[in-house]
Amino acid sequence: MRRIAILTAGGDTPALNSTIFGAVERANERGIEMMGIIRGFAGVVDPRLPHVRLNPLLSTIPELDPTHGGSLLGSSRTYVDPEQLELLAEITPRLKKLGIEGLICVGGDGTIAGMQPLSEHFPCVLAPKTIDNDLGLNYIDEPNEWTKEDSDNGGKNVFLRPPRREVIELEDIVNFATPGYATAVFVVVQGIERIRTTAESHRRIAIIEVMGRDSGFIPLGSAYGQPDIILIPEVPLDMDHLEQRVAELYDLQKHVVIVVGEGVRDQSGRQLGAQTKSYDPAGNVVYSGAAEELKRLLAMRFGDEFFGSRRKHESADSVIFTRKVGHTQRGGRPIKFDRFFAAQLGGKAVDLIAENQNNHIATLQWSRTQGFTLASLAANKLRDQWKKIHPRRVHPSLYDPQRFQPSRLGKEYLMTILSNAIGNDDMEELRVEMFAPGKLSTRYQSVNIDIQRRIETLK
Ligand code: F6P
Repeated sequence: MRRIAILTAGGDTPALNSTIFGAVERANERGIEMMGIIRGFAGVVDPRLPHVRLNPLLSTIPELDPTHGGSLLGSSRTYVDPEQLELLAEITPRLKKLGIEGLICVGGDGTIAGMQPLSEHFPCVLAPKTIDNDLGLNYIDEPNEWTKEDSDNGGKNVFLRPPRREVIELEDIVNFATPGYATAVFVVVQGIERIRTTAESHRRIAIIEVMGRDSGFIPLGSAYGQPDIILIPEVPLDMDHLEQRVAELYDLQKHVVIVVGEGVRDQSGRQLGAQTKSYDPAGNVVYSGAAEELKRLLAMRFGDEFFGSRRKHESADSVIFTRKVGHTQRGGRPIKFDRFFAAQLGGKAVDLIAENQNNHIATLQWSRTQGFTLASLAANKLRDQWKKIHPRRVHPSLYDPQRFQPSRLGKEYLMTILSNAIGNDDMEELRVEMFAPGKLSTRYQSVNIDIQRRIETLK
């Protein structure tokens, strides 16, 4: 292959530029030209096909900084619908007109869904990314376990999944961790540590909401911040058990820190944070606030008397406070684990496309004997019998719902990813850069301005 393209789709992560960097460096080695498509699939469906040359004369452009969060190409949640046949038919000639012979999509499960119809017309591969860590499987035959039930719930089918394998081995996990996850956990842990001491001083109950949609990997990783209680979306909320635990902890230490995954559900399956359901363009539920709803439920159960009788003359409403870590989880400098493996996976994606592995995913595997290694997987292996890709969930053997904490295996999983995830340079960067005097006299230099100058369009 002489020329390929890369795009970044879906929600961004801190590691996207690292992936693009790894891909471009590998393309340089293989003598392949790399085009970057602007704003994900939105760029591909645009007849002008906005693009930049990422390695003119086979050397990487200086704007591509693997330590800078976000994507210099921009991202969007625009996807190509398999039903849009006319649009699909337009894309291939458009890419070919530019001499592009293959496309690398950097994305998560939504991106694979968008890539699939395109891959039937044009060679595509996926380099994974998502802070949610939900692109992959707990074990290879997991998709076959999904069962479907027809529902009258707006004509939507409900997927049910009986737990089959009670225990997994870490070596079974397909795509062990996704670039962006480690940095998101890093940010969450820092947030918890800071909220902890203020909750402690003011005798408060802090509810910290973290991202991850239906998957609890980010809350699981928050265990490094030592929250008292971790609630993950995979385990329906048991309010009696939670109330009892919060009361015990409040009596013992006069404050409590709870981490809640944004997708947490109650016993009836209702998502706590989605009372007013709205959907983003990709059809994902936009969460309005699990922490707020949890606060309401706890305040209702405890009432003002609980705190009054503990000589805290404040209402339940003011004792319990909520914080969303929010988009800080998705941005900023990626930590070493993400930088390194994102770049490796970007390089692997180039190898896959060059070796005609259409509709494959570059994956990161882990084994006790070899540690982390690169591999690949046919994207269809992630699909259930109805061709649907489900986000990977935290397997029951990784979480202990009695203690609201990671299980022994869950801790082992986290240690594998995070024990060595921060590099010396990450800390040095903070020390040198945070209060660098020059920052007071210079404006933030946006990569968007630099890239704008390089954007070309089809004639
Ligand atoms: O999928 C990544 C993610 O950050 C989720 O954890 C979160 O629910 C969602 O994206 C937020 O998306 P947006 O930035 O579009 O609000």
